Amino acid sequence: MAFVAVTDVHSFANFHESRVRHLELDLAVSFAERKLRGAATLALEPAGRRLVLDTRGLKIHRVNGREDNFRLGPEDPILGSPLEIALEPGVRSVRIEYETSPEASGLQWLEPAQTAGNRHPFLYSQSQAIHARSWIPLQDSPAVRITFSARIHAPVPLRALVAAHRVRDGHFHMPFPVPPYLLALAVGDVEFRALGPRTGVWAEPAVLERAAWEFADVERMVEAAEALYGPYRWGRYDLLVLPPSFPFGGMENPCLTFATPTVIAGDRSLVSLVAHELAHSWSGNLVTNATWNDFWLNEGFTTYIERRIQEALYGRARSEMEMAVELGELEEELKHLRPEDQRLVLDLKGRDPDEGMTQVAYVKGALLLRHLEEKLGRARWDAWLRGYFGKFAFQSITTDDFAAELRRAFPDADVSAWLHEPGLPADAPRPRYEFEKTPRDGWVTQEWLHWLRSQPARMSREEMAAIDRAWKLTATGNSEIAAQWLLMAVRNGYEPAYGRLERFLIEVGRRKYVKPLYAELVKTPEGRERARRIYEKARPGYHPITRAAVDALLK
Ligand code: BES
Ligand code: ZN
Repeated sequence: MAFVAVTDVHSFANFHESRVRHLELDLAVSFAERKLRGAATLALEPAGRRLVLDTRGLKIHRVNGREDNFRLGPEDPILGSPLEIALEPGVRSVRIEYETSPEASGLQWLEPAQTAGNRHPFLYSQSQAIHARSWIPLQDSPAVRITFSARIHAPVPLRALVAAHRVRDGHFHMPFPVPPYLLALAVGDVEFRALGPRTGVWAEPAVLERAAWEFADVERMVEAAEALYGPYRWGRYDLLVLPPSFPFGGMENPCLTFATPTVIAGDRSLVSLVAHELAHSWSGNLVTNATWNDFWLNEGFTTYIERRIQEALYGRARSEMEMAVELGELEEELKHLRPEDQRLVLDLKGRDPDEGMTQVAYVKGALLLRHLEEKLGRARWDAWLRGYFGKFAFQSITTDDFAAELRRAFPDADVSAWLHEPGLPADAPRPRYEFEKTPRDGWVTQEWLHWLRSQPARMSREEMAAIDRAWKLTATGNSEIAAQWLLMAVRNGYEPAYGRLERFLIEVGRRKYVKPLYAELVKTPEGRERARRIYEKARPGYHPITRAAVDALLK
Protein backbone atom coordinates (compact mmCIF):
# COMPACT_ATOMS: atom_id res chain seq x y z
CA MET A 1 0.00 0.00 0.00
CA ALA A 2 1.00 3.59 -0.49
CA PHE A 3 3.32 4.63 2.33
CA VAL A 4 2.23 8.26 2.31
CA ALA A 5 -1.48 8.75 3.04
CA VAL A 6 -3.32 9.35 -0.23
CA THR A 7 -5.24 12.60 -0.63
CA ASP A 8 -8.04 12.76 -3.17
CA VAL A 9 -9.02 16.26 -4.30
CA HIS A 10 -12.26 14.87 -5.76
CA SER A 11 -13.75 13.62 -2.51
CA PHE A 12 -14.94 15.21 0.72
CA ALA A 13 -14.63 11.88 2.53
CA ASN A 14 -12.60 11.63 5.76
CA PHE A 15 -11.42 8.10 5.03
CA HIS A 16 -8.28 8.45 7.12
CA GLU A 17 -10.47 9.00 10.19
CA SER A 18 -13.49 6.76 9.47
CA ARG A 19 -13.45 4.34 6.56
CA VAL A 20 -16.29 2.52 4.85
CA ARG A 21 -15.47 -1.17 4.34
CA HIS A 22 -18.79 -2.76 3.40
CA LEU A 23 -22.05 -1.56 1.87
CA GLU A 24 -25.48 -3.10 2.07
CA LEU A 25 -27.75 -1.56 -0.50
CA ASP A 26 -31.53 -1.97 -0.60
CA LEU A 27 -33.20 0.07 -3.33
CA ALA A 28 -36.57 0.21 -5.04
CA VAL A 29 -36.74 1.47 -8.63
CA SER A 30 -39.54 3.89 -9.55
CA PHE A 31 -39.69 4.66 -13.27
CA ALA A 32 -42.72 6.90 -12.74
CA GLU A 33 -40.79 9.20 -10.38
CA ARG A 34 -37.36 8.52 -11.91
CA LYS A 35 -36.05 7.76 -8.44
CA LEU A 36 -34.23 5.10 -6.50
CA ARG A 37 -35.46 4.94 -2.93
CA GLY A 38 -34.23 2.88 -0.01
CA ALA A 39 -31.29 2.52 2.31
CA ALA A 40 -27.51 2.16 2.29
CA THR A 41 -25.95 0.56 5.37
CA LEU A 42 -22.23 1.26 5.72
CA ALA A 43 -19.87 -0.73 7.95
CA LEU A 44 -16.88 1.30 9.21
CA GLU A 45 -13.32 0.38 10.19
CA PRO A 46 -11.91 2.46 11.74
CA ALA A 47 -14.87 4.44 13.05
CA GLY A 48 -14.00 7.89 14.47
CA ARG A 49 -16.29 10.53 15.96
CA ARG A 50 -17.60 11.62 12.59
CA LEU A 51 -18.10 10.26 9.12
CA VAL A 52 -17.96 12.44 6.00
CA LEU A 53 -19.48 10.99 2.81
CA ASP A 54 -19.86 12.26 -0.75
CA THR A 55 -23.34 12.94 -2.13
CA ARG A 56 -24.79 14.80 -5.10
CA GLY A 57 -28.46 15.66 -5.30
CA LEU A 58 -29.46 13.02 -2.74
CA LYS A 59 -32.36 13.58 -0.38
CA ILE A 60 -31.35 12.15 3.00
CA HIS A 61 -34.29 11.15 5.20
CA ARG A 62 -32.71 9.54 8.29
CA VAL A 63 -29.39 8.24 9.57
CA ASN A 64 -29.65 5.37 12.05
CA GLY A 65 -33.32 6.26 12.42
CA ARG A 66 -32.67 9.91 13.37
CA GLU A 67 -32.97 13.29 11.68
CA ASP A 68 -30.71 15.34 13.99
CA ASN A 69 -27.37 13.59 13.62
CA PHE A 70 -26.33 14.63 10.12
CA ARG A 71 -25.83 17.71 8.00
CA LEU A 72 -25.56 18.21 4.23
CA GLY A 73 -22.91 20.80 3.42
CA PRO A 74 -23.15 23.40 0.62
CA GLU A 75 -23.11 22.02 -2.92
CA ASP A 76 -19.89 22.30 -4.92
CA PRO A 77 -20.61 22.35 -8.69
CA ILE A 78 -18.10 19.58 -9.38
CA LEU A 79 -17.95 17.59 -6.14
CA GLY A 80 -21.52 17.72 -4.83
CA SER A 81 -22.29 18.04 -1.10
CA PRO A 82 -20.46 16.51 1.85
CA LEU A 83 -22.73 14.55 4.19
CA GLU A 84 -21.42 14.92 7.75
CA ILE A 85 -22.61 12.33 10.24
CA ALA A 86 -21.94 12.47 13.97
CA LEU A 87 -20.95 9.06 15.33
CA GLU A 88 -21.62 8.07 18.93
CA PRO A 89 -18.65 6.30 20.54
CA GLY A 90 -18.66 2.63 19.64
CA VAL A 91 -20.98 3.03 16.65
CA ARG A 92 -19.44 1.21 13.69
CA SER A 93 -22.23 1.24 11.17
CA VAL A 94 -24.69 3.76 9.72
CA ARG A 95 -27.96 3.09 7.97
CA ILE A 96 -28.85 5.95 5.63
CA GLU A 97 -32.41 6.17 4.32
CA TYR A 98 -32.47 8.27 1.16
CA GLU A 99 -33.72 8.83 -2.35
CA THR A 100 -32.07 10.00 -5.57
CA SER A 101 -32.96 13.01 -7.71
CA PRO A 102 -34.53 12.51 -11.17
CA GLU A 103 -31.51 14.46 -12.49
CA ALA A 104 -28.91 12.20 -10.83
CA SER A 105 -25.71 12.59 -12.88
CA GLY A 106 -24.90 8.89 -12.58
CA LEU A 107 -28.25 7.53 -13.75
CA GLN A 108 -30.05 7.60 -17.05
CA TRP A 109 -33.77 6.89 -17.17
CA LEU A 110 -34.92 5.94 -20.66
CA GLU A 111 -38.39 6.02 -22.17
CA PRO A 112 -39.50 2.87 -24.02
CA ALA A 113 -38.97 4.72 -27.34
CA GLN A 114 -35.23 4.95 -26.53
CA THR A 115 -34.85 1.17 -26.35
CA ALA A 116 -34.59 -1.45 -29.08
CA GLY A 117 -37.84 -3.11 -28.01
CA ASN A 118 -39.86 0.11 -27.71
CA ARG A 119 -42.06 -1.42 -25.01
CA HIS A 120 -40.34 -1.04 -21.65
CA PRO A 121 -38.38 1.70 -19.92
CA PHE A 122 -34.70 1.20 -19.10
CA LEU A 123 -32.42 2.45 -16.33
CA TYR A 124 -28.66 2.28 -16.12
CA SER A 125 -25.92 3.81 -14.01
CA GLN A 126 -22.50 5.15 -15.00
CA SER A 127 -20.46 5.86 -11.86
CA GLN A 128 -16.97 6.62 -13.16
CA ALA A 129 -15.46 8.99 -12.34
CA ILE A 130 -17.40 10.68 -9.49
CA HIS A 131 -21.05 9.89 -10.16
CA ALA A 132 -21.59 7.00 -7.74
CA ARG A 133 -22.28 9.72 -5.15
CA SER A 134 -25.38 10.76 -7.11
CA TRP A 135 -27.07 7.42 -6.40
CA ILE A 136 -25.37 6.09 -3.25
CA PRO A 137 -24.05 8.10 -0.28
CA LEU A 138 -20.51 6.83 0.21
CA GLN A 139 -16.82 7.71 0.30
CA ASP A 140 -16.55 8.21 -3.42
CA SER A 141 -12.80 7.98 -3.85
CA PRO A 142 -10.96 5.23 -5.74
CA ALA A 143 -8.61 5.10 -2.73
CA VAL A 144 -11.47 3.54 -0.71
CA ARG A 145 -12.43 -0.06 -1.50
CA ILE A 146 -15.57 -1.80 -0.32
CA THR A 147 -17.28 -5.14 -0.50
CA PHE A 148 -21.05 -5.00 -0.88
CA SER A 149 -24.33 -6.77 -1.18
CA ALA A 150 -27.31 -5.33 -3.00
CA ARG A 151 -31.03 -5.98 -3.11
CA ILE A 152 -32.84 -4.27 -5.99
CA HIS A 153 -36.63 -4.16 -6.26
CA ALA A 154 -37.49 -3.70 -9.95
CA PRO A 155 -40.99 -3.60 -11.45
CA VAL A 156 -42.07 -6.81 -13.20
CA PRO A 157 -41.40 -7.94 -15.88
CA LEU A 158 -38.09 -6.07 -15.89
CA ARG A 159 -34.82 -7.53 -14.71
CA ALA A 160 -32.31 -5.81 -12.42
CA LEU A 161 -28.60 -6.43 -12.95
CA VAL A 162 -25.81 -5.34 -10.62
CA ALA A 163 -22.11 -5.64 -11.51
CA ALA A 164 -21.35 -8.39 -8.97
CA HIS A 165 -22.17 -12.04 -8.37
CA ARG A 166 -25.86 -12.80 -8.80
CA VAL A 167 -27.07 -14.71 -5.76
CA ARG A 168 -30.65 -15.00 -7.02
CA ASP A 169 -33.05 -12.67 -8.86
CA GLY A 170 -32.65 -9.18 -7.39
CA HIS A 171 -29.93 -10.23 -4.91
CA PHE A 172 -26.25 -9.55 -5.57
CA HIS A 173 -22.95 -9.90 -3.75
CA MET A 174 -19.43 -8.60 -4.32
CA PRO A 175 -16.97 -10.49 -2.10
CA PHE A 176 -13.89 -8.53 -3.27
CA PRO A 177 -13.15 -4.94 -2.25
CA VAL A 178 -13.83 -2.60 -5.18
CA PRO A 179 -13.62 1.18 -5.61
CA PRO A 180 -17.00 3.01 -5.70
CA TYR A 181 -16.69 4.04 -9.35
CA LEU A 182 -17.25 0.37 -10.22
CA LEU A 183 -20.69 0.21 -8.60
CA ALA A 184 -23.22 -0.33 -11.36
CA LEU A 185 -26.90 -1.09 -11.83
CA ALA A 186 -29.15 -1.63 -14.84
CA VAL A 187 -32.86 -2.41 -15.09
CA GLY A 188 -34.62 -3.30 -18.32
CA ASP A 189 -36.09 -5.94 -20.56
CA VAL A 190 -32.90 -7.94 -21.04
CA GLU A 191 -32.18 -11.60 -21.69
CA PHE A 192 -29.07 -13.71 -21.36
CA ARG A 193 -27.13 -15.84 -23.82
CA ALA A 194 -24.13 -17.94 -22.74
CA LEU A 195 -20.96 -17.53 -24.82
CA GLY A 196 -18.67 -19.85 -22.84
CA PRO A 197 -18.56 -21.62 -19.46
CA ARG A 198 -18.02 -18.37 -17.53
CA THR A 199 -18.88 -15.79 -20.19
CA GLY A 200 -22.11 -14.50 -21.70
CA VAL A 201 -24.06 -11.52 -22.91
CA TRP A 202 -27.17 -9.70 -21.69
CA ALA A 203 -29.15 -7.58 -24.14
CA GLU A 204 -32.64 -6.63 -25.15
CA PRO A 205 -34.24 -9.55 -27.04
CA ALA A 206 -34.11 -7.62 -30.34
CA VAL A 207 -30.32 -7.22 -30.04
CA LEU A 208 -29.29 -10.47 -28.33
CA GLU A 209 -28.65 -12.55 -31.45
CA ARG A 210 -26.38 -9.99 -33.13
CA ALA A 211 -24.59 -9.30 -29.85
CA ALA A 212 -23.86 -12.98 -29.24
CA TRP A 213 -22.41 -13.33 -32.76
CA GLU A 214 -20.25 -10.22 -32.41
CA PHE A 215 -18.82 -11.26 -29.02
CA ALA A 216 -18.27 -14.94 -29.81
CA ASP A 217 -14.53 -14.72 -28.99
CA VAL A 218 -14.89 -13.42 -25.45
CA GLU A 219 -14.11 -16.71 -23.67
CA ARG A 220 -10.88 -17.01 -25.70
CA MET A 221 -10.04 -13.44 -24.74
CA VAL A 222 -10.31 -14.32 -21.05
CA GLU A 223 -8.05 -17.33 -21.60
CA ALA A 224 -5.47 -15.20 -23.45
CA ALA A 225 -5.42 -12.59 -20.70
CA GLU A 226 -5.06 -15.28 -18.02
CA ALA A 227 -2.12 -16.82 -19.85
CA LEU A 228 -0.40 -13.43 -19.75
CA TYR A 229 -1.29 -11.99 -16.35
CA GLY A 230 -2.61 -14.75 -14.12
CA PRO A 231 -6.06 -16.06 -13.20
CA TYR A 232 -9.24 -14.12 -13.85
CA ARG A 233 -10.34 -13.57 -10.26
CA TRP A 234 -13.91 -12.30 -10.61
CA GLY A 235 -15.84 -15.47 -11.42
CA ARG A 236 -18.03 -14.63 -14.39
CA TYR A 237 -17.27 -12.23 -17.23
CA ASP A 238 -20.50 -11.08 -18.86
CA LEU A 239 -21.36 -8.16 -21.13
CA LEU A 240 -24.48 -6.02 -21.02
CA VAL A 241 -25.42 -4.24 -24.24
CA LEU A 242 -27.09 -0.93 -23.42
CA PRO A 243 -29.37 1.26 -25.51
CA PRO A 244 -27.55 3.63 -27.94
CA SER A 245 -27.64 6.64 -25.60
CA PHE A 246 -24.89 5.06 -23.43
CA PRO A 247 -22.31 7.88 -23.32
CA PHE A 248 -19.21 5.65 -23.52
CA GLY A 249 -17.98 2.80 -25.63
CA GLY A 250 -17.61 0.49 -22.68
CA MET A 251 -17.38 0.51 -18.90
CA GLU A 252 -15.49 -2.18 -17.01
CA ASN A 253 -18.04 -2.81 -14.26
CA PRO A 254 -16.82 -5.95 -12.43
CA CYS A 255 -18.26 -9.25 -13.71
CA LEU A 256 -20.48 -7.26 -16.08
CA THR A 257 -18.98 -4.91 -18.68
CA PHE A 258 -21.45 -2.30 -19.91
CA ALA A 259 -21.16 -1.73 -23.67
CA THR A 260 -22.57 0.54 -26.34
CA PRO A 261 -24.57 -1.19 -29.11
CA THR A 262 -22.47 0.82 -31.60
CA VAL A 263 -19.68 -1.75 -31.10
CA ILE A 264 -21.86 -4.31 -32.90
CA ALA A 265 -20.50 -3.66 -36.41
CA GLY A 266 -21.63 -6.99 -37.86
CA ASP A 267 -18.06 -8.05 -38.72
CA ARG A 268 -16.44 -8.24 -35.25
CA SER A 269 -14.10 -5.43 -36.28
CA LEU A 270 -14.62 -3.45 -33.06
CA VAL A 271 -14.16 -6.24 -30.52
CA SER A 272 -10.95 -4.67 -29.25
CA LEU A 273 -13.40 -2.76 -27.04
CA VAL A 274 -14.23 -6.04 -25.30
CA ALA A 275 -10.52 -6.85 -24.99
CA HIS A 276 -10.12 -3.41 -23.40
CA GLU A 277 -12.90 -3.72 -20.83
CA LEU A 278 -11.82 -7.28 -20.03
CA ALA A 279 -8.22 -6.08 -19.53
CA HIS A 280 -9.51 -3.76 -16.79
CA SER A 281 -10.20 -6.92 -14.77
CA TRP A 282 -6.46 -6.71 -14.04
CA SER A 283 -5.54 -3.05 -14.63
CA GLY A 284 -8.16 -0.95 -12.90
CA ASN A 285 -10.39 -3.38 -11.08
CA LEU A 286 -7.66 -5.48 -9.44
CA VAL A 287 -4.98 -2.77 -9.25
CA THR A 288 -6.70 0.61 -9.13
CA ASN A 289 -5.64 4.23 -9.58
CA ALA A 290 -5.77 5.73 -6.07
CA THR A 291 -6.71 9.19 -7.42
CA TRP A 292 -7.95 10.53 -10.76
CA ASN A 293 -4.57 12.19 -11.28
CA ASP A 294 -3.25 8.64 -11.71
CA PHE A 295 -5.95 7.74 -14.28
CA TRP A 296 -3.26 6.64 -16.76
CA LEU A 297 -2.46 3.71 -14.41
CA ASN A 298 -5.92 2.38 -15.25
CA GLU A 299 -6.22 3.29 -18.91
CA GLY A 300 -2.61 3.18 -20.14
CA PHE A 301 -2.05 -0.31 -18.68
CA THR A 302 -5.42 -1.40 -20.04
CA THR A 303 -4.75 -0.11 -23.55
CA TYR A 304 -1.42 -1.95 -23.51
CA ILE A 305 -3.06 -5.20 -22.34
CA GLU A 306 -5.84 -4.73 -24.90
CA ARG A 307 -3.13 -4.74 -27.60
CA ARG A 308 -1.60 -7.91 -26.14
CA ILE A 309 -4.95 -9.72 -26.06
CA GLN A 310 -5.68 -8.70 -29.66
CA GLU A 311 -2.22 -9.90 -30.68
CA ALA A 312 -2.76 -13.26 -28.97
CA LEU A 313 -6.11 -13.81 -30.69
CA TYR A 314 -5.73 -12.18 -34.09
CA GLY A 315 -2.00 -11.77 -34.65
CA ARG A 316 0.58 -9.03 -34.50
CA ALA A 317 -0.50 -7.28 -37.71
CA ARG A 318 -4.04 -6.71 -36.44
CA SER A 319 -2.79 -5.36 -33.13
CA GLU A 320 -0.29 -3.06 -34.85
CA MET A 321 -3.00 -1.77 -37.17
CA GLU A 322 -5.24 -0.88 -34.24
CA MET A 323 -2.37 0.80 -32.46
CA ALA A 324 -1.48 2.83 -35.55
CA VAL A 325 -5.01 4.23 -35.61
CA GLU A 326 -4.83 5.06 -31.90
CA LEU A 327 -1.45 6.75 -32.31
CA GLY A 328 -2.94 8.93 -35.04
CA GLU A 329 -5.71 9.93 -32.63
CA LEU A 330 -3.17 10.78 -29.93
CA GLU A 331 -1.06 12.88 -32.30
CA GLU A 332 -4.16 14.77 -33.43
CA GLU A 333 -5.26 15.41 -29.85
CA LEU A 334 -1.79 16.54 -28.74
CA LYS A 335 -2.09 19.45 -31.21
CA HIS A 336 -4.95 20.86 -29.14
CA LEU A 337 -4.06 19.95 -25.55
CA ARG A 338 -2.38 22.34 -23.13
CA PRO A 339 1.13 21.14 -22.16
CA GLU A 340 0.07 20.32 -18.59
CA ASP A 341 -2.67 18.04 -19.95
CA GLN A 342 -0.12 16.15 -22.06
CA ARG A 343 1.51 14.63 -18.98
CA LEU A 344 0.67 11.16 -17.77
CA VAL A 345 0.47 12.35 -14.15
CA LEU A 346 -2.22 15.03 -14.04
CA ASP A 347 -3.20 17.79 -11.66
CA LEU A 348 -7.00 17.88 -11.82
CA LYS A 349 -7.58 19.89 -8.64
CA GLY A 350 -10.56 22.16 -9.18
CA ARG A 351 -11.53 20.38 -12.40
CA ASP A 352 -13.94 17.61 -13.28
CA PRO A 353 -11.91 14.37 -13.33
CA ASP A 354 -13.66 13.40 -16.59
CA GLU A 355 -11.37 16.01 -18.20
CA GLY A 356 -8.52 13.55 -17.70
CA MET A 357 -10.12 11.21 -20.24
CA THR A 358 -7.82 12.02 -23.16
CA GLN A 359 -5.72 9.85 -25.46
CA VAL A 360 -2.73 10.83 -23.32
CA ALA A 361 -3.80 8.49 -20.50
CA TYR A 362 -4.73 5.74 -22.98
CA VAL A 363 -2.24 5.83 -25.81
CA LYS A 364 0.76 7.62 -24.34
CA GLY A 365 0.33 5.39 -21.28
CA ALA A 366 0.28 2.25 -23.44
CA LEU A 367 3.33 3.48 -25.38
CA LEU A 368 5.27 3.84 -22.13
CA LEU A 369 4.59 0.18 -21.29
CA ARG A 370 5.51 -0.87 -24.82
CA HIS A 371 8.69 1.16 -24.49
CA LEU A 372 9.52 -0.79 -21.31
CA GLU A 373 8.67 -4.07 -23.04
CA GLU A 374 11.06 -3.27 -25.90
CA LYS A 375 13.80 -2.09 -23.58
CA LEU A 376 13.63 -4.97 -21.10
CA GLY A 377 12.59 -7.76 -23.44
CA ARG A 378 9.13 -9.30 -23.49
CA ALA A 379 9.90 -12.22 -21.15
CA ARG A 380 11.30 -10.08 -18.33
CA TRP A 381 8.63 -7.42 -18.79
CA ASP A 382 5.74 -9.90 -18.79
CA ALA A 383 7.08 -11.50 -15.62
CA TRP A 384 7.30 -8.10 -13.93
CA LEU A 385 3.76 -7.18 -14.95
CA ARG A 386 2.38 -10.46 -13.68
CA GLY A 387 4.15 -9.83 -10.36
CA TYR A 388 2.78 -6.27 -10.24
CA PHE A 389 -0.81 -7.54 -10.49
CA GLY A 390 -0.12 -10.14 -7.83
CA LYS A 391 1.55 -7.74 -5.43
CA PHE A 392 -1.01 -4.93 -5.68
CA ALA A 393 -4.13 -7.07 -6.18
CA PHE A 394 -7.23 -5.44 -4.62
CA GLN A 395 -5.23 -2.32 -3.75
CA SER A 396 -5.39 1.30 -4.91
CA ILE A 397 -2.00 2.74 -5.81
CA THR A 398 -0.44 5.97 -7.07
CA THR A 399 2.01 6.55 -9.90
CA ASP A 400 4.77 6.80 -7.27
CA ASP A 401 3.97 3.27 -6.10
CA PHE A 402 4.27 2.06 -9.71
CA ALA A 403 7.56 3.91 -10.24
CA ALA A 404 9.05 2.58 -6.99
CA GLU A 405 8.07 -0.99 -7.87
CA LEU A 406 9.59 -0.59 -11.33
CA ARG A 407 12.82 0.81 -9.88
CA ARG A 408 13.10 -2.10 -7.44
CA ALA A 409 13.28 -4.56 -10.34
CA PHE A 410 14.94 -2.36 -12.97
CA PRO A 411 17.05 0.37 -11.31
CA ASP A 412 18.11 1.74 -14.71
CA ALA A 413 14.62 2.23 -16.11
CA ASP A 414 14.00 5.98 -16.00
CA VAL A 415 10.40 6.88 -16.70
CA SER A 416 10.22 10.36 -15.17
CA ALA A 417 10.16 12.19 -18.53
CA TRP A 418 7.30 9.94 -19.67
CA LEU A 419 5.38 10.62 -16.49
CA HIS A 420 5.95 14.34 -16.01
CA GLU A 421 6.82 15.96 -19.36
CA PRO A 422 4.36 16.99 -22.08
CA GLY A 423 4.29 15.40 -25.55
CA LEU A 424 5.82 12.13 -26.63
CA PRO A 425 9.50 11.35 -25.89
CA ALA A 426 11.66 11.18 -29.02
CA ASP A 427 12.29 7.46 -28.51
CA ALA A 428 8.61 6.57 -28.18
CA PRO A 429 7.82 3.26 -29.91
CA ARG A 430 6.04 3.37 -33.26
CA PRO A 431 3.64 0.65 -34.40
CA ARG A 432 4.77 -0.99 -37.63
CA TYR A 433 1.89 -1.25 -40.05
CA GLU A 434 1.58 -0.40 -43.74
CA PHE A 435 -1.97 0.50 -44.67
CA GLU A 436 -3.24 -0.29 -48.16
CA LYS A 437 -3.62 2.88 -50.23
CA THR A 438 -6.84 2.24 -52.19
CA PRO A 439 -10.14 1.13 -50.72
CA ARG A 440 -11.62 -2.24 -51.53
CA ASP A 441 -14.50 -4.38 -50.34
CA GLY A 442 -13.48 -6.34 -47.29
CA TRP A 443 -11.64 -3.53 -45.54
CA VAL A 444 -12.13 -3.53 -41.78
CA THR A 445 -13.15 -0.48 -39.76
CA GLN A 446 -9.61 0.63 -38.94
CA GLU A 447 -8.60 0.65 -42.62
CA TRP A 448 -11.55 2.86 -43.48
CA LEU A 449 -10.78 5.20 -40.58
CA HIS A 450 -7.17 5.51 -41.62
CA TRP A 451 -8.06 6.14 -45.24
CA LEU A 452 -10.83 8.66 -44.50
CA ARG A 453 -8.59 10.57 -42.09
CA SER A 454 -5.87 10.81 -44.72
CA GLN A 455 -8.18 12.52 -47.23
CA PRO A 456 -7.71 16.28 -47.79
CA ALA A 457 -9.46 18.48 -45.20
CA ARG A 458 -11.36 20.27 -47.99
CA MET A 459 -13.11 18.33 -50.73
CA SER A 460 -15.60 19.39 -53.37
CA ARG A 461 -19.16 18.16 -53.40
CA GLU A 462 -18.26 16.06 -56.48
CA GLU A 463 -15.34 14.40 -54.72
CA MET A 464 -17.47 13.61 -51.68
CA ALA A 465 -20.27 12.31 -53.89
CA ALA A 466 -17.87 10.07 -55.83
CA ILE A 467 -16.61 8.45 -52.61
CA ASP A 468 -20.15 8.10 -51.35
CA ARG A 469 -21.33 6.49 -54.60
CA ALA A 470 -18.45 4.03 -54.60
CA TRP A 471 -18.58 2.98 -50.93
CA LYS A 472 -22.09 3.94 -49.71
CA LEU A 473 -20.69 5.66 -46.66
CA THR A 474 -23.73 7.79 -45.84
CA ALA A 475 -25.69 4.56 -45.53
CA THR A 476 -23.10 2.56 -43.57
CA GLY A 477 -24.33 0.63 -40.55
CA ASN A 478 -20.89 0.87 -38.97
CA SER A 479 -21.11 3.70 -36.44
CA GLU A 480 -17.36 4.26 -36.24
CA ILE A 481 -17.14 4.81 -40.01
CA ALA A 482 -20.40 6.77 -40.02
CA ALA A 483 -19.10 9.19 -37.38
CA GLN A 484 -15.90 9.83 -39.34
CA TRP A 485 -17.75 10.24 -42.65
CA LEU A 486 -20.36 12.58 -41.15
CA LEU A 487 -17.58 14.72 -39.71
CA MET A 488 -16.15 15.10 -43.21
CA ALA A 489 -19.65 15.79 -44.58
CA VAL A 490 -20.12 18.66 -42.13
CA ARG A 491 -16.67 20.04 -42.83
CA ASN A 492 -17.33 20.04 -46.58
CA GLY A 493 -20.98 21.04 -46.55
CA TYR A 494 -21.97 17.74 -48.18
CA GLU A 495 -25.75 18.05 -47.97
CA PRO A 496 -26.80 14.56 -49.07
CA ALA A 497 -25.50 13.29 -45.70
CA TYR A 498 -27.44 15.78 -43.54
CA GLY A 499 -30.47 13.53 -43.12
CA ARG A 500 -28.28 10.73 -41.83
CA LEU A 501 -26.39 13.22 -39.65
CA GLU A 502 -29.60 14.24 -37.92
CA ARG A 503 -30.81 10.66 -37.43
CA PHE A 504 -27.40 9.61 -36.13
CA LEU A 505 -27.23 12.45 -33.61
CA ILE A 506 -30.73 11.73 -32.37
CA GLU A 507 -30.22 8.01 -32.00
CA VAL A 508 -26.64 7.70 -30.75
CA GLY A 509 -25.51 9.38 -27.51
CA ARG A 510 -21.92 8.11 -27.40
CA ARG A 511 -19.91 11.19 -26.46
CA LYS A 512 -16.90 10.24 -28.56
CA TYR A 513 -19.04 10.52 -31.73
CA VAL A 514 -21.51 13.22 -30.74
CA LYS A 515 -19.13 15.86 -29.38
CA PRO A 516 -16.83 16.15 -32.44
CA LEU A 517 -19.84 16.38 -34.76
CA TYR A 518 -21.37 19.29 -32.86
CA ALA A 519 -17.91 20.88 -32.53
CA GLU A 520 -17.54 20.75 -36.33
CA LEU A 521 -21.06 22.07 -36.87
CA VAL A 522 -20.64 25.17 -34.70
CA LYS A 523 -17.70 26.38 -36.80
CA THR A 524 -20.04 28.11 -39.29
CA PRO A 525 -23.20 30.19 -38.70
CA GLU A 526 -25.41 27.82 -40.77
CA GLY A 527 -23.86 24.83 -39.04
CA ARG A 528 -24.52 26.37 -35.65
CA GLU A 529 -28.17 26.84 -36.61
CA ARG A 530 -28.40 23.23 -37.76
CA ALA A 531 -26.69 22.07 -34.56
CA ARG A 532 -29.25 23.96 -32.46
CA ARG A 533 -32.18 22.47 -34.36
CA ILE A 534 -30.87 18.93 -34.06
CA TYR A 535 -29.85 19.33 -30.43
CA GLU A 536 -33.32 20.51 -29.47
CA LYS A 537 -34.63 17.11 -30.55
CA ALA A 538 -31.65 15.05 -29.44
CA ARG A 539 -30.90 16.52 -26.00
CA PRO A 540 -33.76 14.87 -24.09
CA GLY A 541 -32.35 11.49 -25.14
CA TYR A 542 -28.73 12.21 -24.19
CA HIS A 543 -27.07 11.08 -20.97
CA PRO A 544 -26.09 13.90 -18.56
CA ILE A 545 -22.41 13.37 -19.47
CA THR A 546 -23.05 13.86 -23.19
CA ARG A 547 -25.41 16.76 -22.47
CA ALA A 548 -22.69 18.52 -20.48
CA ALA A 549 -20.23 18.15 -23.37
CA VAL A 550 -22.66 19.51 -25.98
CA ASP A 551 -24.06 22.24 -23.71
CA ALA A 552 -20.51 23.57 -23.39
CA LEU A 553 -20.24 23.81 -27.20
CA LEU A 554 -23.64 25.42 -27.79
CA LYS A 555 -24.01 27.71 -24.78
N1 BES B 1 -13.23 3.22 -17.92
C1 BES B 1 -13.38 3.71 -19.24
C2 BES B 1 -14.56 4.63 -19.40
C3 BES B 1 -14.53 5.89 -18.56
C4 BES B 1 -13.35 6.57 -18.31
C5 BES B 1 -15.70 6.39 -18.04
C6 BES B 1 -13.35 7.72 -17.53
C7 BES B 1 -15.70 7.53 -17.26
C8 BES B 1 -14.52 8.21 -17.00
C9 BES B 1 -13.51 2.56 -20.24
O1 BES B 1 -12.72 1.45 -19.93
C10 BES B 1 -13.03 3.06 -21.56
O2 BES B 1 -11.89 3.41 -21.65
N2 BES B 1 -13.89 3.09 -22.57
C11 BES B 1 -13.56 3.57 -23.91
C12 BES B 1 -13.46 2.44 -24.88
C13 BES B 1 -12.12 1.81 -24.99
C14 BES B 1 -12.13 0.74 -26.05
C15 BES B 1 -11.01 2.79 -25.26
C16 BES B 1 -14.68 4.46 -24.39
O3 BES B 1 -15.75 4.43 -23.78
O4 BES B 1 -14.49 5.17 -25.36
ZN1 ZN C 1 -10.68 1.82 -20.15
